[in-house]
Amino acid sequence: MKKGFILSFEGGEACGKTTQIKLFKEYLDKKGIDYIALREPGGTEVGESIRNILLHQKVDIDYRTEVLLFNAARAQIIEEKIKPALKQGKLVLLDRFYHSTLAYQGYALGRDTNSLKKIINYATDEIKTDLTLLLNLPAEVAYQRKVEENQQDRFEERGFEFYKNTENAFLEVAKNDPNVKLIDATKSIEEVHKQMVETFEKHYNSQEEQEGSN
Ligand code: TYD
Repeated sequence: MKKGFILSFEGGEACGKTTQIKLFKEYLDKKGIDYIALREPGGTEVGESIRNILLHQKVDIDYRTEVLLFNAARAQIIEEKIKPALKQGKLVLLDRFYHSTLAYQGYALGRDTNSLKKIINYATDEIKTDLTLLLNLPAEVAYQRKVEENQQDRFEERGFEFYKNTENAFLEVAKNDPNVKLIDATKSIEEVHKQMVETFEKHYNSQEEQEGSN
């Protein structure tokens, strides 16, 4: 039986992730690949409530509380949505996953990623992505795009330094995980989409070939 596949999309603010996910879903539809699309934090009723606390309420949240809230939402989505989908051999498309925690709550803040990894492993029940597509955008471009859009949530009310830290943090994440592949997000929407599809097909097809030979 087909094993299922976890594909996550990551990247800092203004990297074009939402547009690319929309295009990618159209591509999957065309290909006839069975998938579910989820977002983090969120994707379940509990998770969406946690998302609301994390992103939209003007309350002071302690660092460890924040880490645990992201991971509480994660534990729920793993049990309620991801495990059942994998069992059915589906592709799980995630708009952010644990690499966001490693980047935002870890490297970007200069925090210890080893303790974060333990919490993440607990929340995910050790489930890992098969492929993570990281939309890599230089902080200068990201910041400029965001200023032009002028859209900010609790996590985005931050200056240029935050953008630089985020860019470096995601690069650090990529360096430490061979399943994370960099996509050049400075390119046009069509070119970025093409890079994503090519990278995905290489990995997805090689998994299918392995299954075929088992
Ligand atoms: P969202 O509105 O989904 O933003 P985006 O379009 O950038 O994905 O908000 C999610 C925010 O939560 C985003 O700023 C990144 C942050 N986040 C973390 O800090 N840690 C995490 O583990 C996750 C999943 C998200």
